[in-house]
Amino acid sequence: MISYARQTQEEQPEASLPPVEEHIAPAPRVSVQAFCETVETAAAVQSAGEDRRLGKAHLKIQMGGMAAAIEAYRSAPTPNVIVLESDGRNDLLGGLDQLATVCDAGTRVVVIGRINDVMLYRELVRRGVSDYVLAPVGAIDVVRSICNLFSAPEAKAVGRIIAVVGAKGGVGASTISHNVAWAIARDLAMDAVVADLDLAFGTAGLDYNQDPPQGIADAVFSPDRVDTAFIDRLLSKCTDHLSLLAAPATLDRVYDFGTDAFDSVFDTLRSTMPCIVLDIPHQWSGWTKRALIGADDILIVAAPDLANLRNTKNLVDLLKASRPNDRPPLYCLNQVGVPKRPEIAAAEFAKAIESQPVVSIPFEPQIFGSAANNGQMIAEISANHKSIEMFLQIAQRLTGRSETKKQKSSLLSPLIEKLRGK
Ligand SMILES: Nc1ncnc2c1ncn2[C@@H]1O[C@H](COP(=O)(O)OP(=O)(O)OP(=O)(O)O)[C@@H](O)[C@H]1O
Ligand SMILES: [Mg+2]
Repeated sequence: MISYARQTQEEQPEASLPPVEEHIAPAPRVSVQAFCETVETAAAVQSAGEDRRLGKAHLKIQMGGMAAAIEAYRSAPTPNVIVLESDGRNDLLGGLDQLATVCDAGTRVVVIGRINDVMLYRELVRRGVSDYVLAPVGAIDVVRSICNLFSAPEAKAVGRIIAVVGAKGGVGASTISHNVAWAIARDLAMDAVVADLDLAFGTAGLDYNQDPPQGIADAVFSPDRVDTAFIDRLLSKCTDHLSLLAAPATLDRVYDFGTDAFDSVFDTLRSTMPCIVLDIPHQWSGWTKRALIGADDILIVAAPDLANLRNTKNLVDLLKASRPNDRPPLYCLNQVGVPKRPEIAAAEFAKAIESQPVVSIPFEPQIFGSAANNGQMIAEISANHKSIEMFLQIAQRLTGRSETKKQKSSLLSPLIEKLRGK
């Protein structure tokens, strides 16, 4: 698909990140070979290859552009994707025609070029080029172009993974993840699932007042059986838009998982659910780290004390470094204002973390305690409690969506937009 309205480089910030509302789904296990002309593009493609969304793809980069590609595929089979840089000096269209004679069916071609011209776009489309990206490119442009080749346009909204983790144990990460998922389902009207990854002690079942006989353990202990239908049977429905993949919360087994134990569960959930909220226990292991790094967005929940500050800082630094083409993780403060307890102020957090907390949720033992013990969400206990607005704010920041209820547009609005455009 060729988009005619590319951003010009002047509009792009130095290391451009995708906008919040854009969701780039990870690419499947495909082979990609890039033939670059400039070191700048080669560097961008190289760092694209290190992006989490291309983690499964096999990427090979070489220099020499079109000529090198034609030469390479004279004898070798073509990969799933060929990325070609054209610096505009050579005959791009002639080269593509020549390449077509050696390309296997099913191979897709992405061109990175410098010429911004509709006639050229048309000729490229006619030759079956899948995407044309205007140079100079950043890593995220390459990631986007490759990933979009494999996600059907109608599946665009599918599969956003939101990971929630506590900076310390017991800070309220689970409570917040459950209430935020509730807001996503109720106020943003997105189908969401909460996956309780605290298999031994998870409370999602208690919090939503559900006691399903099956849940996430059935999937993670039999990865070979995991597919859409299998996972569907493990979900228990909490509300219209919200389902739960519950933890067993039993101790007869131990839960020492391998690093990629949850991969197939997450991949399957992604293929059917628009929003997946992971309630990640406070621990540092191969699989928790992988779940955090692989998520589309991250929320760290911290209580306002020194250990939480240090841990939040460490988590944010690590996640920023491992996800250079993503928004930095978000964090919020929780249990703020415990009587007589000395606290570190939100401003101190903001200085150390180099970003503001999304919200600071007050310590409210009465209402949070009742919710926990009754198996209810805060909104069910007190419809106007101030924390509800905060959960919604977190939901909006994480999904990039605004509230649907307040946005009701009239039937005529597309027409009105058009008229305005004129
Ligand atoms: N803002 C708040 N005010 C008062 N109590 C709260 C608040 N947030 C959470 N709690 C309570 O704190 C306790 C711990 O919460 P929760 O289980 O969500 O924490 P967690 O970070 O997931 O803990 P764990 O490390 O065990 O996973 C619960 O009893 C919950 O009701
Ligand atoms: Mg928890």
